Amino acid sequence: MERGSLAKTNAILTEALEAVPDPVILIDPRRLVSFTNAAARHVWPTLQMGRPLFFTLRMPDLVDAVERVMGQGEAVDLEINEKTPIERAFRVKILPLPTGYTAPERDQPVMMLMLHDLTTERRLEHMRVDFVANASHELRTPLASLLGFIETLQGPAKEDVTARERFLEIMRSQARRMTRLIDDLLSLSRVELNAHRLPVNPVDLAPLVEHMAESLMTLAKERSVALNLFNTDRPFWVAGDVDELSRVIENLIENAIKYGQSGGRVDVSLSVIDQPSGGQDVCLEVRDYGAGIPAEHLPRLTERFYRVDVSQSREKGGTGLGLALVKHIVSHHRGRLQIDSQAGQGAVFRVLLPLKSMTV
Ligand SMILES: Nc1ncnc2c1ncn2[C@@H]1O[C@H](COP(=O)(O)OP(=O)(O)O)[C@@H](O)[C@H]1O
Ligand SMILES: [Mg+2]
Repeated sequence: MERGSLAKTNAILTEALEAVPDPVILIDPRRLVSFTNAAARHVWPTLQMGRPLFFTLRMPDLVDAVERVMGQGEAVDLEINEKTPIERAFRVKILPLPTGYTAPERDQPVMMLMLHDLTTERRLEHMRVDFVANASHELRTPLASLLGFIETLQGPAKEDVTARERFLEIMRSQARRMTRLIDDLLSLSRVELNAHRLPVNPVDLAPLVEHMAESLMTLAKERSVALNLFNTDRPFWVAGDVDELSRVIENLIENAIKYGQSGGRVDVSLSVIDQPSGGQDVCLEVRDYGAGIPAEHLPRLTERFYRVDVSQSREKGGTGLGLALVKHIVSHHRGRLQIDSQAGQGAVFRVLLPLKSMTV
């Protein structure tokens, strides 16, 4: 190949390596860094040209593997774990580079390291395992209680009419709890399945809020909570999915009634607010005046099965999935969920969704 075209090929290769989304590092025979691409510099900002690779990547397994490739001239594939500064896992491919017929020059790249970050994959895998364990546990508890009552009814309490009535009532409530749990799990997985499809139908939130509030009126009355609606007499259009948005409104109002009961009042309002970026959002606000939520719980509130008080949630018929569902639906709609609360001060849940301008 001519010199000119070789230089051109090198320039193209350098640019291609620079654009590879995973970290790529080239080193010379002295294990000094002779090239880093953007992804590598992003992950290890201290990785500098001309400096020893192992100053930054201090991983004994990696050192061993690089020495092996230097010695044997064969590619190596391995997984490495970095403990500091943060815990990370990588799949690493180390390839010897052809050096031609002469011995490599001092700063000539002789080896390429290609790294693929496994941290996100690992975290997702961890979450999946946790989720299955939690869901099974949540289902097993009512199931164990059902089995216990069935066995009691078949044996010791066979002829006891009063006990039977009482047990059947408990069994019914346990079976209902399992149904709610399965319904919520199915709703969650439906939202996840649709996550890549942006909802586009025009939806007016005002009648939806009125409708959901009406269906929760009985619960509010039972708990002596006054449910007040504000601004539902004019339309608030968003691009959305009616079923999903109904679940959001239902969950937030139901939580406010159940967990904010002591405040005796729940306010639900709609408004339009300006986004910092220039557009406008429709804001659905659900405010209660109850016991509120201590600050340390706020960041975890939307995790699946997370509750501030597990026994209180169970006793109120909760599954711990309501806010996880709300958060998923809101992000499916490219919206935002804001939670403000302090212990003893009530709680405010705000859902912000981009306003859809309706030109009629
Ligand atoms: N308005 C509220 N006031 C106080 N605590 C709340 C409120 N809304 C939710 N929480 C807390 O957040 C937890 C999670 O809510 P959610 O995901 O809807 O699950 P669930 O209602 O099934 O327990 C509840 O168990 C409760 O501890
Ligand atoms: Mg709930």
